[in-house]
Formats: sequence, structure tokens, C-alpha cells
Amino acid sequence: MYENEKRISAMEALKHVHSNMKLGLGTGSTTKYFLDGLGELVKSGKITDITGVPTSLRTADLAKSYGIKIENNLEGIEIDFDGADEFDGSGNLIKGGGGALVREKIVAYNSKEVYIMADHSKFSEKLHSFPLPVEVLPFMEDVTKKNIEKTGCKATFRDGKKFKSDNGNYILDCRFDFTDVVLETEIKMIPGVVEVGIFSGITTKVFIGENEKCRVMDF
Ligand code: A5P
Repeated sequence: MYENEKRISAMEALKHVHSNMKLGLGTGSTTKYFLDGLGELVKSGKITDITGVPTSLRTADLAKSYGIKIENNLEGIEIDFDGADEFDGSGNLIKGGGGALVREKIVAYNSKEVYIMADHSKFSEKLHSFPLPVEVLPFMEDVTKKNIEKTGCKATFRDGKKFKSDNGNYILDCRFDFTDVVLETEIKMIPGVVEVGIFSGITTKVFIGENEKCRVMDF
């Protein structure tokens, strides 16, 4: 869906990359367009000395296949480039549709700037359309699920517990009528919760593909 808009947003974001940078590398189909473009620039030698900190094993594999140097060290990340499942007018995000929310949040939190790339359909005035991903430990996880549901949602294990994150944990997809950002701390306080897919107050720019154009929101 909206593949051209995803590509357009990624290509616009890519214009901010130059030689000798350390980047956070997100996960998902929009980020893949970014990585494909970056890979071409690196392979052709137009851009050199790029180091990437990957947010998932699949991003690490893809980046390596393009000759991008991979490092698991958070120091000095200039810009983190990533996608989102939903964003609002304040740059708050829902992430984790691909199950990479833990590493995505660690990398985003530790980057000087966070650039989000998305097609126009991901925008909502109030976060509500995408079920909130929550990563939980595979220990007494049914109890953790019940405790999460007390915050006002209906939660389901992704793929009936068949899906495991890169960290070996389960993902619960939690359907709220409205995903208030205060839920991030409320849910994170529940024992067994590893991370919550609400990213609040860390976005620097959102690149939004709209038909053939890209609109940029600055925060
Ligand atoms: C991965 O866990 C997610 O946070 C992705 O960044 C998000 O799902 C966006 O993915 P797409 O670019 O594939 O829509």
C-alpha cells in the first residue's frame, strides 16, 4: 500500500545523509527504501564512511549486504532514520508493527535527531487506528496480558504467540479507542513489560509522502 509515497518520503530523508556519518537504521518497508537508496550511494562511492546502528537483525543483514559498516554502539549517532505505524501532529508515534520496537526505541532515544519516513495514511489527529504493540517477557505472559488490559484495551498475542521478537519475547497488540501517550509510562510500569510502542517527544522531523510530493513536519 502507498509504496510510491513510502519511497518518496525515504528519498527525501536520504538527502540529509552525507559522507562520514553515523546513522541509526530503522526497520520496516519504508526504511527498506531508505536503505536501498543509501546502499546505491555507498556502492557507487558517492557517499563514503557511513556507519549504521541497526534496530533489527534483518536491517543489519540488509545494511551489511550493501557494504554499510554496522556497529552496536550508541555513541555519536547523528540521525536515526525509521518508519512508523502511526503519527500525530505533535510527532508522537506508534511503532512496533514489525516487532522491532525495543531496539528502535533504544536507538531513537540515543540519537541526536530522529527522522521518521511515512506515507500519508499513517497520520491520525489522535493515535487510535494502529493497535499498540507491547513487548512482554515469555514468563507468566498471560498474567502480564491481563494486567495490560486493565489499562483499557483488548490485547492479543501476535500470531497467537508464534511471533517472537529479535529479543526472544512476545508482542501483544493492544487495541485502545484512543492511545493516549501517558499510557507509555502506565504500561511500562507493569511487571513483565519490556517496552511499549509509544514514542513520544523524540521525533525531530516526519517526511510524509503525499501523492508525488513529500511534506516535512518539524518538531
Ligand atoms: C518496526 O517494528 C516498526 O516500528 C516499523 O518502523 C513500522 O512498523 C513501519 O513499518 P512500515 O514502514 O513497513 O510501514
